[in-house]
Amino acid sequence: MFIIHTVSELRQLLQLARRQNKTIGLVPTMGALHAGHLSLVQACKTQCAFTVATVFVNPTQFNNPDDLHNYPRTLKSDSVLLQNNGANILFAPGEKEIYPEPDTRVFHFGDLENVMEGKFRPGHFNGVAQVVSRLFAITQPDYAFFGEKDFQQLAIIRALVAQLEEKPVIVGCPVVREDDGLAMSSRNALLSKKQREHAPLIAATLMQAKEKAKTLPVAEVKQWAAGAINADSELEVEYIEIADEKTLQPIKQWSDAAHARLFAAVYARPVRLIDNIALN
Ligand code: PAJ
Repeated sequence: MFIIHTVSELRQLLQLARRQNKTIGLVPTMGALHAGHLSLVQACKTQCAFTVATVFVNPTQFNNPDDLHNYPRTLKSDSVLLQNNGANILFAPGEKEIYPEPDTRVFHFGDLENVMEGKFRPGHFNGVAQVVSRLFAITQPDYAFFGEKDFQQLAIIRALVAQLEEKPVIVGCPVVREDDGLAMSSRNALLSKKQREHAPLIAATLMQAKEKAKTLPVAEVKQWAAGAINADSELEVEYIEIADEKTLQPIKQWSDAAHARLFAAVYARPVRLIDNIALN
């Protein structure tokens, strides 16, 4: 595996791969890698002959400076994990490589960006679009892999591709969970021991809510889930939403969506965790 830090080195290596007619797959990450990230690398390896994983903690997508400052950075162990999982390149650029000039582009995603993460983290998806569009322009991948853990991000990226010249095939990969159900996340490392013990309640509640959704109306399922999580001393719901899987717009009744999904954002202060589950 090549570990590289500059765009020019990346372009040279990709040119070689392209000359050999290798399908190029991109796995963008912010590092502090876990089995969720590695599942994307594995999906990439099955579809692409050449796998580029990127590790870049993108400042433009953080709307909270403390969150950016505290974000775990573990490049050494990340590189070992990527090497062991068969990535061909680890691209870990400095900020100037990605943003030689400040990025002032403003993207629009219509209603997709006005709900849930878009509503509670203003500017977040614009920053994601800035970095992902840069990574696509630099790498020009045939495929790019993203997790359903960040389900709204995946929808935004599909909408982004429709607006860009580079059009990699976007592949969504299922949420990978710890044995106790907690969705894997780099932020889990920031939880206190006590918070870590309580955090699996989030996934457990989503799974129970899925059962309740078979008999209860939408509003009651949401209310029950929020109550169950808020009853825990370590957890505080920011939002619980049930939305159409395609449009991500909240639904009022089950018949409003062919496929509904339950989304949660929960604080174990100061750490913010998100999760989601398909309901039908
Ligand atoms: P990051 O949070 O590091 O996640 C990188 C990719 O891994 C994303 O596509 C995310 O959805 C996926 N992922 C994270 N945890 C997962 C899990 N438990 N199961 C499955 N997939 C999981 O998302 C970002 O970084 C950034 O916003 C990025 C797209 C890299 C742009 O900066």
